[in-house]
Amino acid sequence: MKIAAVKSSVANVANAATPPVAPSHITDKKALREQARKGVGKGAVTPDYTLDRVAVCAHLNDALATELVCFLRYKRHYYTAKGIHGRFVAAEFQEHAGQELAHAEQLAERIMQLGGTPDFNPAGLAERSHAEYHDGLVLQDMIREDLIAERIAIESYRALVRFLGNEDPTTRLLVESILAMEEQHADDLVDLLESAAN
Ligand SMILES: [Fe+2]
Ligand SMILES: [Fe+2]
Repeated sequence: MKIAAVKSSVANVANAATPPVAPSHITDKKALREQARKGVGKGAVTPDYTLDRVAVCAHLNDALATELVCFLRYKRHYYTAKGIHGRFVAAEFQEHAGQELAHAEQLAERIMQLGGTPDFNPAGLAERSHAEYHDGLVLQDMIREDLIAERIAIESYRALVRFLGNEDPTTRLLVESILAMEEQHADDLVDLLESAAN
């Protein structure tokens, strides 16, 4: 390698190793402290929050409705599952129901942190939910309906992750963790559908 090329590659390495410079509103501690003090009533929501909070809370409320509907559907399926595989599958329904309820609570808590109001009103719950409520007549119907609902939840959570982008890492982290569990639920249901068919 020629000397000039070596110098240039050394310079490139040096540039690549240069740490990013913190924006002035972080290095200016006085301004940062004053800003935090000024908006103290807004709790966790600071002036650098760039998303439309009303829109974020509306999406989270739709997700909350979806979780509540899924909780109710799994509970119904838990109590009414019958047949040779019924008790085994019911235990899975029960576990999923508990996890959907926990998701609902996490979403409600985040809506509160963002200054919104979690919507637990049963009126219109089915319309607000992405997924549908189905009783399911036999075990296979129940599992299939639950699997369809999980697939709907997966798509809607993935869309929400895209909407949030890098602008709200806390909500995004929460939604991603819920999404991972819905994918696990769908995977469980595929296995149950196969075993119930045999
Ligand atoms: Fe869930
Ligand atoms: Fe789920």
